[in-house]
Amino acid sequence: MAFGRGKVILVGEHAVVYGHPAIAAGLDVGVHAQARASADDRLCIRPWGRDVVADERSDEPLGRAFAALLRSGREGRPASPVCVEVMVQIPAAAGLGCSAALGVAIAGALDEWLGLRRPLDERERLALAWEREFHGNPSGIDTAVSLRGGVMWYRRGQAPEALRPACALLLVLVDSGQPSSTREMVARVAARREAQPALVGSTFDALGALAGRMREALARGDRDEIGRCFDAAHDGLCALGVSTERLDALCERARSAGALGAKPTGAGGGGCAIALVGDEGRAGRVLEACAAMGARSWLVEVGR
Ligand code: PMV
Repeated sequence: MAFGRGKVILVGEHAVVYGHPAIAAGLDVGVHAQARASADDRLCIRPWGRDVVADERSDEPLGRAFAALLRSGREGRPASPVCVEVMVQIPAAAGLGCSAALGVAIAGALDEWLGLRRPLDERERLALAWEREFHGNPSGIDTAVSLRGGVMWYRRGQAPEALRPACALLLVLVDSGQPSSTREMVARVAARREAQPALVGSTFDALGALAGRMREALARGDRDEIGRCFDAAHDGLCALGVSTERLDALCERARSAGALGAKPTGAGGGGCAIALVGDEGRAGRVLEACAAMGARSWLVEVGR
């Protein structure tokens, strides 16, 4: 059974598309996939009730992405048709890297089926062939962290670097309940960059600098400073126009309930926010505050 992790971006989403550094952390939950013999190349995503045939010309992105991954993964080897069955544990369109986790899990299942042990970077290439069908200009951060896990420093075009935080981070993940489209939000930021190059450029620079600040705070185990970095990153995401009133309100409520800092995570326009909490008692208060606003939330630990 192959696995692709979900992820949270601690700082630097969107700016990372344009070459600035970002920090992401892998989750313990994600997507599991397994391949078996079949009459045709087919993808079954169980909890969604989706059953699609691989077809590069399909109107269905899942069918196209699966065909792209199979073509790239088989590399001309004669191969019998395969059905990949997928179990998804994380919400889709929520900023948790569900599509990258699907790509990583399906690439892993294909390798198991073909009896291959592809090196990590080759498997990453396969999973990226999948990811490109869903979003035109992925920085690669989701796929990199989905494959490797841990807390990662990522810069587009460079090898990802594993960070060793001096403390684990307790995060409350809050789902705004609004769907988030990565493709749409990346396009929206690109349009804003065209229209307001100076403002967007200086916001990207500030987010890149914040990634450096957070890296140092992680190395020292300074949770208060990491929380301040979350809040400052939230301001940057607002300046890019990717937060929403609901995400802002959830972050604000989490702070009043005792979070050290909070921010949207992932592409935004909806999806999830993350709130850093100092201990389980405070986590409980933040979880209750989110529930009082009708938002689903849960506690995760990263950087152990
Ligand atoms: O919303 P998600 O989980 O797909 O995260 C997207 C992160 C972006 O920086 C907005 C895009 C990217 O490819 O890095």
